[in-house]
Amino acid sequence: MNGINQLNHESLARARSEIFQADGIAVLTGAGISAESGVPTFRGPGGLWNNYRAEELATPEAFRRDPRLVWEWYQWRRNLMAEKKPNPGHLALAELEERTPDFTLITQNVDGLHALAGSRNILELHGSIWRTRCVSCGGKAAGREPWPELPPRCPTCRGLVRPDVVWFGEALNEALLGRAFAAASACRVMLVVGTSALVQPAATVAWLAQKAGAVLIEVNVEPTPLSARAQFSLMGPSGRILPLLIEK
Ligand code: OAD
Repeated sequence: MNGINQLNHESLARARSEIFQADGIAVLTGAGISAESGVPTFRGPGGLWNNYRAEELATPEAFRRDPRLVWEWYQWRRNLMAEKKPNPGHLALAELEERTPDFTLITQNVDGLHALAGSRNILELHGSIWRTRCVSCGGKAAGREPWPELPPRCPTCRGLVRPDVVWFGEALNEALLGRAFAAASACRVMLVVGTSALVQPAATVAWLAQKAGAVLIEVNVEPTPLSARAQFSLMGPSGRILPLLIEK
């Protein structure tokens, strides 16, 4: 049976009508939206955290201990993501933005696929795997080329360069988070796609929206801690559900 057969079509129609009527929409995405593009998720079947230990690869301590090892992992992930293309889920969100007066896309993903799909108002809460930041001078750079030597060094000060992503134990960019909370508090519909909602502040963004009166719509292949509280919990792959959800 494919995922769509399990979908409740009445819920889909009602959720679609909420989206159709909303002037203000905020979306929160997680790794699941890129799964159909071939980017591995973190948890669940085939998830990265099943085979790798986060504390050895995605913490500031790990980087201090062994920057080369951390970079090898990030270089591997960059190579893997470099060939990936946005899927119909990413494209549907870009299309929805075009016709929604107030639209904010809050993502936990670092893969850059939303921008490639044409989304514009994107808040990358966990940074971007395509950007780097110098640990010494703070200089930032963007690029997709692999480095000849790891770990890379800052062209300005020769300091160590790190991926410009948020690691476990690190604070999120406050300004970005403030914009995400503001968008969540002001939207009419909050759409949460492909996230386990286990990592803060993702879940908080969704709760905040609901508390402020937004309709909470979830799209996921399995239930999450949000499902019971969401007005609509649409079960199925986002690459198939989102195009249906934004149909006029
Ligand atoms: P997770 O890997 O925790 O969760 C992925 C979610 O996507 C799960 O709920 C899956 O059921 C769902 N999913 C999988 N395939 C899907 C599909 N085709 N359509 C819809 N849903 C699907 O990923 P995140 O919630 O993004 O942080 O994880 C949050 C953060 O934890 C990540 O940003 C990362 C990680 O550690 C950092 O690296 C700081």
